[in-house]
Amino acid sequence: MTGRTIALSALAVFAVLVFGWLAFIHRVDPVAAPPVAALGSAVSGGGVTLVSDSITLPDETAALPDTPGSALITANCTACHSPEMILTQPQLNAEKWQATIDKMRGVYKAPIAPADDTALIAALTALPTQMTPGQVAPAPTAPGQAPAK
Ligand code: HEC
Repeated sequence: MTGRTIALSALAVFAVLVFGWLAFIHRVDPVAAPPVAALGSAVSGGGVTLVSDSITLPDETAALPDTPGSALITANCTACHSPEMILTQPQLNAEKWQATIDKMRGVYKAPIAPADDTALIAALTALPTQMTPGQVAPAPTAPGQAPAK
């Protein structure tokens, strides 16, 4: 290798480094967002326009009937379920309702006080949709109390 070749190679490496550095410091940030213009209820930018719209939610068609303990069901269940959902369950016995309450508490972390279980089950089984025709609703129980026998 001649001295001249070495000098040319060194110059080439230097040039690559200089151009590389210049390209690096003058690079265009690919994620720099274009300016966003707000037009009333629409926002556009980057070739996309988002327009606000309004929707009408369906009316709640069912409410819990005013039965013994229905307020307790409202307090413990309707944060997550509509009254309609509670009212369209198949007829369950006390044991099945207890299993449902245990599942809500255990699996879905529903903050249902265990002391309310008995009163809740009495309230759930007293719902008209849970009673067979002719059945008499059990006497109301206060939360935390055993049902009247
Ligand atoms: C923290 C929220 C939460 C609360 C409070 C809650 N549930 Fe649920 N429940 C769920 C979720 C989540 C599911 C599973 C999805 C579904 O079926 O809607 C569920 C499912 C159910 C089901 C369907 C059957 C099953 O076993 O999955 C029934 C019946 C039910 N809940 C009844 C109740 C009753 C009665 C109460 C009040 C004592 C209650 N839930 C309170 C969250 C909750």
